Amino acid sequence: MVQENPLFRAYPKLSSIPWISVLNPPTPVHKMEELTRILDIGEIWVKRDDLTHETYGGNKLRKYEFVFADILKKNKKRILTQGSIGTNHGLATTIHAKRFGLKTHLFLLEQEPSPNVLENLLCHHHFGAKLSLLKNNFHRKLAVKVNLFFDRKAYSVVIGASSPLGTLGFVNAAFELKEQIDKKLMPEPDKIFITVGSLATCAGLVLGLELAQLKSQVIGIGVTDPSWSSKEATLDLATKALEIMRSKDLSIPDVSKKLSKRLIVDHAYFGGLYGKSTEEALEAIELAKEDGLKLEYVYTGKTLSGLIDYSRKSKISKNEVVLYWNTKSSADLSYYTKKTNYQDLPIKFHKFFEKVK
Ligand SMILES: Cc1ncc(COP(=O)(O)O)c(C=O)c1O
Repeated sequence: MVQENPLFRAYPKLSSIPWISVLNPPTPVHKMEELTRILDIGEIWVKRDDLTHETYGGNKLRKYEFVFADILKKNKKRILTQGSIGTNHGLATTIHAKRFGLKTHLFLLEQEPSPNVLENLLCHHHFGAKLSLLKNNFHRKLAVKVNLFFDRKAYSVVIGASSPLGTLGFVNAAFELKEQIDKKLMPEPDKIFITVGSLATCAGLVLGLELAQLKSQVIGIGVTDPSWSSKEATLDLATKALEIMRSKDLSIPDVSKKLSKRLIVDHAYFGGLYGKSTEEALEAIELAKEDGLKLEYVYTGKTLSGLIDYSRKSKISKNEVVLYWNTKSSADLSYYTKKTNYQDLPIKFHKFFEKVK
């Protein structure tokens, strides 16, 4: 039987784990010719996870291939999930859950209403999410618990869909990359730069690279508070994902102790506050345009600024192949935002639009 995804092709026994196709794989890889020339290092490549789906892409869809399948298997109908008002995760959830007949309820905290944030907030509404604004994290968690208690058809998805199950999406991504390398679509990277927020993206990648026996070292650029997006927490999540895999196929080696040496988590480009821009991120966004990439400063700009700084400080040697993993959807949402009036959102959200007028 032909297996449906690279992970199941590598380990057919894992196909007993529920999985559903959400994205259009494989996402393209290509050389960043201009950045390679400007930084004058070996070769810089990009993995275009911004293109996982034409309506709204990004990294979350990979996690949802496993998480939606679990929700559908459990016959749940409504997703409860959390974020800040501009959450990419919430938007990916809302848009793609709808494709599977699932409704989304977002429990949100305030954040600085940048144009990007407001665009996402309008789209949450446009695509049919129910929106609740909470005062703080304690209230947000409580609200989710209460809703879960009273709704037997509800399923709570953790922030960023960064559960052990969601992490398998990025183990799968590493095997997708391996297939692209085997097909000679790109050389094997020495280093991979990726964003670390709620952890599953980096955790799954590190685990997948180890299992796929690729040599790449991972430099995870932390964009949330270091106490949250730590190396230890990332490795812990990777180990939990490995436990799921080994519960289905004991021939999968226990590589948990080997993961640490392949991973650096670096918060030097965080800028002290989640969502705050940095000069370096803004420079990275400008440079990325030369290679046709549309980045932003909360996640992907900071990550590329890390890559640029590593190269300027000679932490990347001249002949190395570096892969930059672009995790933010580049889909144009203006069609939807133009059709949405902020006054149609629940009244508590109007102030964010009125602030910037
Ligand atoms: C665009 C983007 N890139 C990267 C990340 C980080 O991924 P993860 O939350 O799995 O660490 C996030 C979310 O936090 C994101 O929204």
